[in-house]
Amino acid sequence: MLRSVVLSTGAYLPARVMTNAEFEKTLDTSDDWIEGRTGITQRHIAARDELTSDLATKAGKQAIESAGVPADSIDLVILATTTPDETMPATAVKIQQQLGITRGAAFDLNAACSGFVYAMAVANNFIISGQVKRALVIGAETYSRILDWNDRGTCILFGDGAAALLLERQEQKGTNDDRGVLFAGIHSDGQYASLLGTQGGVSSTRTAGTVFMAGKEIFRHAVARMPDAVEEAMSATGLPLSAIDWLAPHQANQRILDGVAQKLHISPDKVISTVAGHANTSAASIPLALHVASHDGRLKRGQLVACPALGAGLTWGCTVVRW
Ligand code: ACO
Repeated sequence: MLRSVVLSTGAYLPARVMTNAEFEKTLDTSDDWIEGRTGITQRHIAARDELTSDLATKAGKQAIESAGVPADSIDLVILATTTPDETMPATAVKIQQQLGITRGAAFDLNAACSGFVYAMAVANNFIISGQVKRALVIGAETYSRILDWNDRGTCILFGDGAAALLLERQEQKGTNDDRGVLFAGIHSDGQYASLLGTQGGVSSTRTAGTVFMAGKEIFRHAVARMPDAVEEAMSATGLPLSAIDWLAPHQANQRILDGVAQKLHISPDKVISTVAGHANTSAASIPLALHVASHDGRLKRGQLVACPALGAGLTWGCTVVRW
C-alpha cells in the first residue's frame, strides 16, 4: 500500500519577538490577562520587508536539506496560507522558484487555521494515487499584516511563522503499523462564516481586510469539533484513542488545547503545545509544533500523532500520522 511518509521537517520564526507587555503601551490589556486567558506569552513578528514567501522558503529549505534529497526531486509544493504575498501569482510558485525547483506544480491553499490539515489531505491524495512522489507541505503566515492592532480581542492572539513537512511516497504493508499518513479528514460548513474572518477582501473592498472574531463561539466550536475530528480519524483507522502517542492540535490558545485533550481523555503530558512562545500562527501552527517536538526528541519515529484543527469557514479536520 502506498503511504505518504514524513521524511523531514523545517521551520522558521522571524527574529523579532513581541511580548505581551508591549501591548500594555497601546491597549487596555495586561500580560496577566493575555497569559491567563490564552497561555500566550509572546509571538514572533515578521520584519517589514519579510514576506510570507521568505518565511516559507526558509522552512522549506531546512526540510529539504534535512531530508538530503535534491530540491528538484519535489513534484508538488502546497502552501497553506491566509496571508499570501500578492493576490497572484500564488505565493507557492515564488517559494518553488526560491527553492530551485523547476518542475512539478505549486499552489496556495486557503483554509485559514485548518490550512495545514487541508494541505496534508490534498498532498496525501496526490501521493497515494501515485501521481506524486515527493510533496512539500508548508504552512506560513504573516498575520501581523491583517490584524487590527487596536482590537485587543484579536491582535493579542496571533503571530507570524512558517513550518514545512516533506512527504514521500513509500510502499508500506497496509497496516496501522505503517509509517506515514494513516488518515486525513477535512470538513467545512459555511453557515458559520460570519464568526471569524476579515472585514474586507480583494473582491469586496480591494484591500486585504483585518481580522474579526466572535471569540466565545469560536471557542465553543473548537472544543467540540476538534475532538470529533480526532474520533472520526481514529475510528477510520480502527485504532483506539489510547493508541495516540501525541496530540498536536492547532495552537489557537492553551484553554482550547486543554479542552480538546480533556474531551478525548488524553493526558496533558501527551499534548504538544507551542502556543506560549508562538501564539496562533494559523496554518503554520501544527507543523511548527511537530517540528519543535521532533527536534526536542519528544516525537519519535514510529509514534502516532493526531493533529486536529479548526479555523475560519468554519473549516476543520484531523490528520493522523505515524511519524
Ligand atoms: N485584554 C483585556 N481585556 C480583554 C481583552 C484583552 N486583550 N480582550 C477582551 N477583553 C475583555 C472584553 O472586552 C470583555 O470585557 P467586558 O466584559 O467588559 O465586555 C472581557 O474581556 C471578556 O471578553 P470575552 O471575549 O468574553 O473573553 P473570553 O473569556 O471569551 O476570552 C478569548 C477571549 C481569549 C478571545 C476567547 O474567547 C478565546 O480564546 N476564543 C477562542 C478564539 C481563538 O483562539 N481564536 C483564534 C482564531 S480561531 C482558531 O484558531 C480556532
